[in-house]
Amino acid sequence: MSITKICCIGAGYVGGPTMSVIAQKCPHIQVTVVDLNEARIAAWNNPDVNKIPVYEPGLADVVAEARGRNLFFSMDADKAIDAAEMIFISVNTPTKTYGAGKGQAADLRYIELCARQIARVAKQDKIVIEKSTLPVRTASSIKSILDHVGNGVQFQILSNPEFLAEGTAVADLHQPDRILIGGDNTTTEGRAALEALVEIYAHWVPRERILTTNVWSSELSKLTANAFLAQRVSSINALSELCEQTGANINEISRAIGTDSRIGPKFLKASVGFGGSCFQKDILNLVYIARSYGLHEVAHYWEQVIIMNDHQKSRFAKKIVRTLYNTVSGKKIAFLGWAFKKDTNDTRESAAIYVADELLAEQAVITVYDPRVPAGQVYADLDYLKSRAADENRDLVKVAADPYEAMKEAHAVAILTEWDEFRTYNWQHVYDVMLKPAFVFDGRGIVNREALEQIGFHLYRIGSGE
Ligand code: NAD
Ligand code: UDX
Repeated sequence: MSITKICCIGAGYVGGPTMSVIAQKCPHIQVTVVDLNEARIAAWNNPDVNKIPVYEPGLADVVAEARGRNLFFSMDADKAIDAAEMIFISVNTPTKTYGAGKGQAADLRYIELCARQIARVAKQDKIVIEKSTLPVRTASSIKSILDHVGNGVQFQILSNPEFLAEGTAVADLHQPDRILIGGDNTTTEGRAALEALVEIYAHWVPRERILTTNVWSSELSKLTANAFLAQRVSSINALSELCEQTGANINEISRAIGTDSRIGPKFLKASVGFGGSCFQKDILNLVYIARSYGLHEVAHYWEQVIIMNDHQKSRFAKKIVRTLYNTVSGKKIAFLGWAFKKDTNDTRESAAIYVADELLAEQAVITVYDPRVPAGQVYADLDYLKSRAADENRDLVKVAADPYEAMKEAHAVAILTEWDEFRTYNWQHVYDVMLKPAFVFDGRGIVNREALEQIGFHLYRIGSGE
C-alpha cells in the first residue's frame, strides 16, 4: 500500500515538527495537520515563517521548504481525515485533573474524541497511528470505538511513539536513534499497515533503525524510555545534594561515572529539576498503571523519581531564602530563564514556575528574562497554579525584555534555564548594577565559578560543595 495523503490531528510540539519533517522528506505525500485551536493553525500558516508557534532550531527552514507544497495546516479536520489513507493522532494526553486517577492517570478524552471523529468521517479503510504517548493497551480502546461507531470501514491501529526532545526536535527527527512501530503482524492487513509506515520513515531513516514490535510493547516502551531518562536526572540530582554537604562536585562525579560505558555520559547533568510536558506526566501514568494492576512496589519505586524532582526544585528555592538572610520579602530576584530547557519556548512543568511560586509565597519580587518566552506565558503559568490572585502575580512578577534590566538592583540572580547566552554575559557589568552583597544561584551549573567569585559574587551552584 503506497500512502499519498496523511492527516495528523494535533498541531502541537510533536504534530507540527514531526509532520513538517515527513513532508520535507516525502515530497510525494500530501501532509495535512489539523487542530481545534484556531490561533495555533493561524500561527503555523503565518507568512513570516519565524512566527510559527513552536520555536525549534532549524524548524522554520523545514516549514518554509514544505509548506504550501505538500504540507498544510488546516482547521478542516473532517476533510483531511476523509482524504487521508493514514491518520496520526498527536493530541495532548495530560494528567487527569478530575475523577478517578486524578493527578496520575492520563486524560484520554482528546484521544477518544479523535477516534470518534475518525469513525464518523471515514468512508474508506484507514491506518490510524497513535503518535501521542498513551497508556499501554489504549490501542484496544481506540479499536473498539472505531469498530463499533464506524460504518463498516476497516481500521488498522499502529503505535508509533515519538522520541524527539524539545530544543533538538529537528535533529532528532532527521537522525533518530530509532523509530518504533507497534502493530499486528499476525494478519495480512496488519503487516501491510506496518510496512506502509516503515516505508515512509525509510525515505530517510536506515531500515535497521526502524524497529517493529507488538502494539503493547511499543506503547509501554515510550513510558519506559521517559521513566528511565527522568530517573537518571533524579539520581544525579539526589547526589547533588550530598555533594553540597561533603565538598564533592557533581560535575566531576558525572564525568567519572559517565565514562563507564555501561552508564554512559548523557543525562547526568545536575539541575534545578527536570521539567517539560512529558517526564512527570508519563511517570505518574506509569505509577497509576502499575497500581491499577496491584503492583504497589513497582508504583512506589517509580514515584520516587517525582518525589526527588519536587524536592530538588523546592530545595533550590529554600536555598535562596536561607542565603538571603532568611527573608526575601520585598527583595528583587532576577530569573534568567523560564523555559524548561534551552532552545525551546515551551514552559510546561518548568522548574522556574515552581521555584518562583515558592519565592512569591515568601513575598519576593521577581523579574524574569527569557529569550523566547513572552510575558503572557509567564503569567499564565503562575496563574494556573492558583496560589494567589492574578493581580498579585502581576504586581510581584515583572518580565524584562533585556537581561541587564532584569538584573539591575537585584539582590540575587537565579539561573533556571541553561540558555547559551547566559554564559557570555558581561558579569562585571551585572555585578556593578546589582545590590551588594550580590548573589548568583546557578541552577544549571553554567557559569564560571572562579570568574564570578573574582568579580565579587557569592555563588551557589547546584551540586558543588566547594
Ligand atoms: P500539544 O499540547 O503541544 O499539542 C496538542 C495539540 O492537539 C493542541 O494544539 C490541541 O489543540 C490539539 N488537539 C487536542 N484535541 C484535539 C482534537 N480533538 N482535534 C484536533 N486537535 C486537537 O502537545 P504535544 O507536546 O505536541 O504532545 C502531544 C503528544 O505527544 C502527547 O501525548 C505527548 O505526551 C506526546 N509527546 C510529546 C513530546 C514533547 O516533547 N512535547 C515528545 C514525545 C511525545
Ligand atoms: C523528553 C525525552 O527526552 C524525549 O525523548 C521525549 O520524547 C519527550 O520527553 P524533553 O522533555 O523535550 O524530552 O527534553 P529533555 O531533553 O528530555 O529534558 C527534560 C528535562 O530534563 C529538562 O528540564 C532538562 O533540563 C532536564 N535534564 C535533562 C536535566 O536536568 N539533566 C539532564 O542531564 C538532562
